[in-house]
Formats: sequence, C-alpha cells, structure tokens
Amino acid sequence: MTRKTTSNGAGNAVEVRGLVKHFGEVKAVDGVDLDVREGTVLGVLGPNGAGKTTLVRCLSTLLVPDAGTATVAGFDVVRQPRALRRTIGLTGQYASVDEKLSGRENLYMIGRLLDLSRKDARARADELLERFSLTEAAGRAAAKYSGGMRRRLDLAASMIGRPAVLYLDEPTTGLDPRTRNEVWDEVRSMVRDGATVLLTTQYMEEAEQLAHELTVIDRGRVIAEGEVDELKTKVGGRTLQIRPAQAAELDRMVGAIAQAGLDGIAGATADHEDGVVNVPIVSDEQLSAVVGMLGERGFTISGINTHLPSLDEVFLAITGQKTSEAADGGPQDGPRDQQDVQDKQYEEVPA
Ligand SMILES: Nc1ncnc2c1ncn2[C@@H]1O[C@H](COP(=O)(O)OP(=O)(O)OP(=O)(O)O)[C@@H](O)[C@H]1O
Ligand SMILES: [Mg+2]
Repeated sequence: MTRKTTSNGAGNAVEVRGLVKHFGEVKAVDGVDLDVREGTVLGVLGPNGAGKTTLVRCLSTLLVPDAGTATVAGFDVVRQPRALRRTIGLTGQYASVDEKLSGRENLYMIGRLLDLSRKDARARADELLERFSLTEAAGRAAAKYSGGMRRRLDLAASMIGRPAVLYLDEPTTGLDPRTRNEVWDEVRSMVRDGATVLLTTQYMEEAEQLAHELTVIDRGRVIAEGEVDELKTKVGGRTLQIRPAQAAELDRMVGAIAQAGLDGIAGATADHEDGVVNVPIVSDEQLSAVVGMLGERGFTISGINTHLPSLDEVFLAITGQKTSEAADGGPQDGPRDQQDVQDKQYEEVPA
C-alpha cells in the first residue's frame, strides 16, 4: 500500500502554535499548542465543550482560526488549504455518509470526488469494505446500518485517499464495547500502515488504548500533556475491586491485605454498600499478588474488576478541580456517564 508521505521528514506531522478560535464570547480554542509526531497517535482528551471539534475543524481548514499558526504535513492551514486537504482524512463526530446510498456507493462516490478513475474508485471501495468487514453489507443503504457499521463506513470513507494524517473526532462515542474494540483495532492497523492520527476523545480508556501521547484540554486551553504513562502516574493507576463470596468477609479481607504487607499495596478499603474491597494498584503484578494471597488464605472471591480513572478523576488529579461540566453541575448524561463507569472484567485487562 502506498501512502503519501509528509514533507517534513521524521518530525511532526502536525504542529499547532497559539491557535485561537473564538465564537463571540465563547473562547472555543484559546491559545492551543500541540505537536503530533509522525506515525504516532496523539489523544486530545477533554469533556463536552472543551474545544476538541473546533480544533479539528481548524486543522481541517473548515474553520479559519482567529490567531496562531498550524501546519499539517508542512502545509499551513490558512495559506495552503488545498494542499493540506489532500493530505488529511477526517472522521467527524457526526456521521458524514449519505444514508440513501449503499456502503459501496458511498465509498465509490468519495473516490470519484478524489479524482480516482472509475476502476480505481471501485477497487478502492471494495478493498476498504473488505478491510472494515462491510463486504456483506456493501449493497445495503447506509440508513440500514447499525451504529457500529456506520462508524466503520465513516472510517473507511476517511481512508479512501490514503491520507498521511487522520483526524478522528470522538470515533467511538455512543458505541457498545464490542464495536468500540473493532474501531480501536482499525485505528491500530492504520497506524501500523504509517498514518499519523489526531484522536479526540472523552474516554480516558480510549486514550490509553490508542494514544502514544496525550493533550488534555478544557475550556479551549491545554491543561496537561505528556506520555500516557506519565499522566497515568499522576492520576495514580487503577483501582482493583474484589468481591468476596460472603459480604461478611469484607473487613476481614481488608485486614488480611493490610497484614500481608505486599509490595506497594496500601490503603485497601471496604465498600459495604457495593460489597467490594477497593485496592489501589499500579501494576498487573500487584493485582496478581493481592488475589493470589487472598486465595492462599482461604478467601472465596466471586468477582474481580479493575477500574480505570475516569476523565473526571484525571482532571481532579491534574488540576485539583472538577471538569467544568461537573463543577457547573451540568448534565451528566450520555457519554460522560459511560465514562464514569469504566469497569473491566479482570480477564480483559491487557497483560
Ligand atoms: N459554530 C459555533 N458557533 C458558536 N459557538 C460554537 C460553535 N462551535 C462550537 N461552539 C462553542 O465552542 C465551545 C467548544 O465547542 P466544541 O464543539 O469544539 O467542543 P467539543 O470539545 O468538541 O465538545 P463535545 O465533546 O461535546 O463534542 C462550546 O462552548 C461550543 O458551544
Ligand atoms: Mg466535539
């Protein structure tokens, strides 16, 4: 597969300096600096209204910034919009496919818009349908696709022109866990093929799964940035939740964990309401050690989860403040609720 290469060697595919975009009083993007290294994924993490979509729209030439500079593959967003558009792919937050057309027709049409010959557009459409497991559904109207299928069609659409740089604006918001995993696999495979990705998300877990580096934004400003592990360390890892078969064992379990003096394990607490013991951990080794020790001491365990920090907890750890929405007492419906409950079965925790 040939892929357009970016023009600035092995440096940054995206460079943003002091970018500003205001809508009247609303400072949607308020002086953002960020870099996306070529061939990597930058996760832009932020709550509703943080400015993620506005940033992506500026970087896609759909909005003209008020101030600052941004280059993508060496092209300036304001001065070289046409050249820039040829190097990028965009999967917007809201589906962009034509519902009346079939999956195949959608991809074919985009290929033709990108100046592919009829033959090449057909071949490219079929190749991407296959890759995104849509071959069987290719002849059906997109209106009849499930949410996950549409998202995959969106991703396929953004890949037609073999973009060197891809923007994925909340690619999995509203998807069920299985479909979310499928989308993640696709993103990983795009990156293996050499793409550079700027991914916006409200999900700490998504950032953790896909991003090499993270930029956390709120109210149009960068409030933290760094490698995923650095930010995770700031937040303090995961919480291991252990459910004893007998609720009456909760306190005895906490006592046993304290007494065992396992390396780095401290601060286990019993949650009588939920019937679990919470243990802060930073590694899978600690998880195994705690569970193994309890087994050896004859406790019967009926369930184990690990709980990743939510975006709200990340904010709290980084800024000492709640996210603007949580602090404003704003609505907590939709994706934010899902974010708050990021329990994973132990079996699914990656090694
Ligand atoms: N075209 C517009 N006109 C006026 N205000 C806008 C416009 N687009 C965005 N805004 C405002 O700018 C701020 C940032 O919005 P933006 O859509 O960039 O946030 P976001 O991080 O993408 O949020 P979400 O997670 O909900 O998608 C919000 O306060 C929003 O209301
Ligand atoms: Mg958005």
